[in-house]
Amino acid sequence: MKESYADDTMKEKTRAYLREFIGKNLSFLKPKDIHVLHLPGPEMLEWEEVYKPLGIPAKNVTGLERDPAAYAALAERNHNVGMQIYRTDDVSFLETAKQQGRRWQIVSLDYVSPYNQRSFLYTCSHAYFLPGCRGGAISFW
Ligand SMILES: C[S@@+](CC[C@H](N)C(=O)[O-])C[C@H]1O[C@@H](n2cnc3c(N)ncnc32)[C@H](O)[C@@H]1O
Repeated sequence: MKESYADDTMKEKTRAYLREFIGKNLSFLKPKDIHVLHLPGPEMLEWEEVYKPLGIPAKNVTGLERDPAAYAALAERNHNVGMQIYRTDDVSFLETAKQQGRRWQIVSLDYVSPYNQRSFLYTCSHAYFLPGCRGGAISFW
């Protein structure tokens, strides 16, 4: 498990860009109506720097983590926050999510390695837009 993403300047800039992009382009949605799927990492920096400042409720934010040690750190930090977190890989989660008809306006997959084609196809075809939603964003970074 990588211990920290706090000193990664590119990630810091990308979080700021994502926050501004969502604030500008999804401003027609109320924060309470925005649902997010993302890879929070052990420190929950994406929650702290992107979704929390935008006022998106933690209960609307789903986080996936496949690494056991990173998940343990994430679960501890999330204890008083209340995001929906799952110890799983993205493809397994999205297979079930598809069957359950789950959708998100924002899908942000900050992989640590190049994404594989299966992840990409699952995300693009099944993981976005709640019924009746006029827009959304998918971000791979
Ligand atoms: C780069 S970190 C996330 C950093 C965070 N977004 C931030 O802004 O600091 C990616 C996290 O997702 C996990 N991860 C990577 N690929 C994954 C996958 N396919 N499914 C589930 N978790 C994954 C890694 O173990 C890692 O903790």
